[in-house]
Amino acid sequence: MSADVFNDAERIIAEQLEQAHAFYGEDAKGAAPLLPILHALQHAFGYVPPQAQPLIAHALNISQAEVRGVVTFYHDFKTEPAARAVIKLCRAEACQARGCERIASHLESAHGLVAGARSHDGRIALESVYCLGNCALGPAALVGDELIGMIDEVRADALVAEARR
Ligand code: FES
Repeated sequence: MSADVFNDAERIIAEQLEQAHAFYGEDAKGAAPLLPILHALQHAFGYVPPQAQPLIAHALNISQAEVRGVVTFYHDFKTEPAARAVIKLCRAEACQARGCERIASHLESAHGLVAGARSHDGRIALESVYCLGNCALGPAALVGDELIGMIDEVRADALVAEARR
């Protein structure tokens, strides 16, 4: 965590704690202000920096395990910045019949993209999805709002190149 992020996280935690004390008074102890703090951090950074968790634990006088437990319980909390681009590749039956596994293999061998993970530079995430409603034009993929049909290796390479720009 850079010094800027560290300072911003510390400031956000202090602000949220102050608001919780103003609102709840003496009841704002322990984990009570935890969710507002996590929401504020995610709003500020787009995710809850893992390095902020010890700061939160210290500020609330709770364990880091408690903080981590809440962060991981709620799927809406992210612990790393969002990828710049998410390639959703359909792996359902119709797209399997039309070669989506070949595209998935190509994305892995040519670009190191593995479903459920990010590229090494963190910019691209590959996700497997199961039917995009574009079965007749499979293999299908979705990037942002763009539905792509009949994706082949050339188109897959272009998507990756666009995402890296
Ligand atoms: S099975 Fe792939 S879009 Fe429907």
